[in-house]
Amino acid sequence: MNDVNIREVRIQDLDRCFEIESVSYAGDEAASKEKIENRINTYSEGFIVLEQDKTVAGFINCGACNKVELSDEEFKELVGHDSEGKYVVILSVVVHPDFQGKGYAKLLMDSFIEKMTNLHKKEIYLICQTSLVDMYKKSGFVYIGESQSDHGGLSWHEMSLPLNS
Ligand SMILES: CC(C)(COP(=O)(O)OP(=O)(O)OC[C@H]1O[C@@H](n2cnc3c(N)ncnc32)[C@H](O)[C@@H]1OP(=O)(O)O)[C@@H](O)C(=O)NCCC(=O)NCCS
Repeated sequence: MNDVNIREVRIQDLDRCFEIESVSYAGDEAASKEKIENRINTYSEGFIVLEQDKTVAGFINCGACNKVELSDEEFKELVGHDSEGKYVVILSVVVHPDFQGKGYAKLLMDSFIEKMTNLHKKEIYLICQTSLVDMYKKSGFVYIGESQSDHGGLSWHEMSLPLNS
């Protein structure tokens, strides 16, 4: 049996998180190392990692705000982020290919939802590609509609999960 643990990110995780982001996301979808470092330093409460046998296998990170604009590219650099903001916008949900298909994204999302509820956030937002809409529905997210973003020439969808906090 594998030993699985979910915890808040540490700056020592930066290289591994960048590696996971780079191998898992296609092309310019992957966040740069600087963006990931900024997310760790600015809002570690909103950045959790899953370890299998002490190796980081995947993570979720986000920013918080009081006014959600899901197609705002600058928010990926946490421009407009406010740690006290009531709304949470997920920036990455990612599991290294060697660890995919084991239910780890679901475990990460369950833990993330619990953490954001405990932080008294009101709602979690994300945008995703068509193929992942059903995956997020399984975690309780509701479909909002098509996104204005045409990032990477792809079709994107907005989803959200209201929290009982
Ligand atoms: C998407 C991703 C995070 C899924 O990680 P994972 O750990 O393999 O997912 P899980 O094993 O927890 O799967 C959870 C559920 O989603 C489904 N699912 C997983 N990946 C899927 C995919 N690419 N397309 C459709 N459904 C998928 C699974 O079948 C599973 O459903 P089940 O509970 O009915 O079996 C992973 O494939 C990844 O990192 N991809 C690259 C980055 C990315 O696109 N992230 C999403 C950004 S919006």
